[in-house]
Amino acid sequence: MIEKLKARAFVALGKPDGRLGIWLLGHRQYVGGDWGALGDLQFEFMLKMGLKPGHVLLDIGCGALRGGVKFIDYLDEGNYLGLEREKQLLKVGIKQELGRERMRRKSPQFVISDRFEFDKFSRRPDFAIAQSLFTHLAESDILLCLEKLRRFMNPGGRFYATFFIDESHVNQSPRSHSHRSFRFPRATVEDFGVKSGWNPRYIGDWGHPRRQAMVEYVAE
Ligand SMILES: C[S@@+](CC[C@H](N)C(=O)[O-])C[C@H]1O[C@@H](n2cnc3c(N)ncnc32)[C@H](O)[C@@H]1O
Repeated sequence: MIEKLKARAFVALGKPDGRLGIWLLGHRQYVGGDWGALGDLQFEFMLKMGLKPGHVLLDIGCGALRGGVKFIDYLDEGNYLGLEREKQLLKVGIKQELGRERMRRKSPQFVISDRFEFDKFSRRPDFAIAQSLFTHLAESDILLCLEKLRRFMNPGGRFYATFFIDESHVNQSPRSHSHRSFRFPRATVEDFGVKSGWNPRYIGDWGHPRRQAMVEYVAE
């Protein structure tokens, strides 16, 4: 009953970002639900792309660690880097999903930032993933992320990002929002990469339940 009231309040209040939205929806719903399936999907996808325990992985917009818990389990100690805007979301994820014992044993690094401050991490990644991040970002924030990541990642590094592809839609919204969808034509998402120094490769369908498409950006 209380959960239903909270969900209604979330809509009535215009789907608020941040602390209020997290409190109203709960951490699993706040990042979109489908907790188990989407955690597995991103983990298995990265294994197919060649992720090994000895690699360093950067998870951009890691949320409450839906994929993070699986990556942290798999990677060697210290090899998971998570960047997230919402401190509260990550705090709940560490406490309720990861747990103290794994936190101590695997020593993941976390940075709270909404300006893609990757240089706060002490290591550079071999791989990066942004699962369901660019689907909520305006063009200027996507480009900022790609430019800063390109400078941070060593040549040969690979970045996997999901998008909603829509050929008929030109998205004019100037402001990112965690509960609005941003859609771009395929050529535009490839062009984002070219503009910021990456070599883009469109992968498309990777089994996402809401048809988010995958794009690979390779650091040349
Ligand atoms: C839909 S959720 C996906 C979370 C996670 N990747 C997953 O699969 O569970 C998007 C996440 O990106 C975060 N986010 C949005 N804008 C961000 C920014 N500029 N910098 C870092 N994180 C951001 C949100 O707070 C949210 O946790």
